[in-house]
Amino acid sequence: MEIHIVADADAGAKVVADLFERTVRDAGDSGAVLGLATGSSPVPTYTELIRRHREEGLSFAACRAFLLDEYVGLPAGHEQSYHAFIRDNFISSIDIEDASVISPNGAASDPAAEAADYDRRIGEAGGVDLQILGIGSNGHIAFNEPGSSLASRTRVVGLTRSTIADNARYFDSPADVPVRAISQGLGTILEARRIVLTASGEGKAAAVAQLAEGAISARWPATVLQTHPAVTVVVDEAAASQLELADYYRHSRALESDIPLSTDR
Ligand code: GLP
Repeated sequence: MEIHIVADADAGAKVVADLFERTVRDAGDSGAVLGLATGSSPVPTYTELIRRHREEGLSFAACRAFLLDEYVGLPAGHEQSYHAFIRDNFISSIDIEDASVISPNGAASDPAAEAADYDRRIGEAGGVDLQILGIGSNGHIAFNEPGSSLASRTRVVGLTRSTIADNARYFDSPADVPVRAISQGLGTILEARRIVLTASGEGKAAAVAQLAEGAISARWPATVLQTHPAVTVVVDEAAASQLELADYYRHSRALESDIPLSTDR
């Protein structure tokens, strides 16, 4: 796991955008498969990638993308659906085909069948080349809440009270927050060839400390990322504030700055 402690969201966005740019350019005409996340954490990265598209000609035209998750019960057109979020915050402003950006259908009549089908479609696309993740304050990734099987596949999950409270800021009232979601499983996410997780703010500090330094456990689902050979974590000072080994991460990044990121860590 490679941990970058950065000064602010803009600095973090550049580190993450560099990984996306390299993935997209390396795939060339065959097209990278991108794993996209919602929530506020990836937005500065998306903004930076939009800038590179507009000002530097970075093209996503050959890419396909899969979202991590979707609320059950929200149709694609609902303004708080993740289908809408990723269009509003990223893909409408780049040159990827809209139909190439795929997410679980939260309005499916059989959400369990939709989840299984979604998992299968990711595999059929050849798997995800680069997956971006945020992290919940309780250590969830996508909507894999504490207690999730570390080998879980895409499925219907119930949201914890703390996640519903965290996400209520996007809705008119906490009662409007959906209580279930279709989420890629931890086992599904681990199949991505490279993963980058980004977090900022004090509220994420405990989860980030567990992610990097805690025992691997379903209590903190993000700890499963310790088993993946190519994970980059990009955090600001506040999110890094409970890391015991923060000084070492700073020091080792400086020593390794000339090692290409494609090297497994
Ligand atoms: C939601 C999403 C997660 C995201 C988390 C944190 O629960 N399902 O994918 O990581 O929120 O969101 P934020 O980045 O807004 O803190």
